[in-house]
Amino acid sequence: MRLLRNLAPALSAFLALFASSQPASSAPPAEANSCLACHGAQGEGLAAAGYPRLAGLSAEYISEQLNAYIDGRRVNPIMRPMAMPLTATQIQGIATFFSALPAPSNVAAALTDATQSALGQQLAERGEWSAGIPACFNCHAPGGVGLPPAFPPIVGQPAMYIESQIQAWKNGTRQGDPKNLANALMHNVAFRMSDTQTKAVAAWLAAQPIPTPNTSPSTTVKTNP
Ligand code: HEC
Ligand code: HEC
Repeated sequence: MRLLRNLAPALSAFLALFASSQPASSAPPAEANSCLACHGAQGEGLAAAGYPRLAGLSAEYISEQLNAYIDGRRVNPIMRPMAMPLTATQIQGIATFFSALPAPSNVAAALTDATQSALGQQLAERGEWSAGIPACFNCHAPGGVGLPPAFPPIVGQPAMYIESQIQAWKNGTRQGDPKNLANALMHNVAFRMSDTQTKAVAAWLAAQPIPTPNTSPSTTVKTNP
C-alpha cells in the first residue's frame, strides 16, 4: 500500500482495480483463523507443544485428516471439536490455504547423543530389517519430504508429534491410511518399533533441514518493498 500511495493517481487507480480482482492469496479463510493459535501464524506448528505444522502438507492429506477427526479414525480431544463444525467447503478452503504456505525452515537442534542420532538416521534411511522395519524414506521420500497426496512429509514436524503419532497407531487411536490399503502401511511400521527406536527416529527427523524443493508451490509471488 505504501507503494501505491507514491504512484501517480492514474496509475494507482489502475493498480487498485487490478489488485481488487486479484485478492491476496495469503489471507487465511475466516474459519482458519482459530487454527493459527496452535498451528502458527504461518502454519509452521508449535514444536514446544508438539503441535504439527500444516504448512506445505498436501491439501488432500489435510482434508483427509480433518475428516478422520470427525469420523473417529483419529481420536484426539483437542482436534475433534475443532474439526466437527467445519463444512466440506470450509475444509477444502482450509486445506488449500495451508497447503500453499511454504514449509517452515526452523528445525530442532542437532542431537547431542551420538548413539541416538545414529539409530535415528539408520531407521530413517535404511530401516531395521531384522525387526521388519522398512526405511521411513522408502515411503516418505528421500529426505522425508513426503510424496503427495498420500505420504505426508515427516521432516519439519516436532519430535513430540512424530512420537505421539507412532504411539497412536500402536494403541489404535490413529487408523487413517490411504483407504485402499486398509490401514496397513503406517500401522505395520509403528507396531514393530520399540520406544527407544521411536524416540531416536523422532528426534533425528525433527532436527533435519527441509531440503528444497519441497511440497510448497513454486509460484510464490515475490514483491520488492
Ligand atoms: C488448541 C490447539 C489446536 C487448535 C486450535 C487447532 N489444532 Fe489442529 N492439531 C492440534 C494438535 C495437538 C494436533 C495433533 C493431534 C493428534 O495427535 O492427532 C493437531 C493436528 C491437526 C492436523 C493433523 C496434521 C497432520 O500432520 O496429520 C490437522 C490437519 C489440523 N490439526 C488442522 C487444524 C485446523 C484446520 C484447525 C482450525 C480449524 C486446527 N487444527 C486447530 C492442535 C490444535
Ligand atoms: C510402507 C510405507 C511407510 C513407511 C515405511 C513409513 N511410513 Fe509413515 N506414513 C505412511 C503413510 C501412508 C502415512 C499417512 C497415514 C495417514 O494418512 O493417516 C504415514 C504417516 C506418518 C506420520 C504422520 C505424519 C503426520 O503429519 O501426521 C508419521 C509421523 C510417520 N508416518 C512416521 C514414519 C516413520 C518415523 C517411519 C520410519 C520408521 C515411517 N513413517 C515409515 C507410510 C509409511
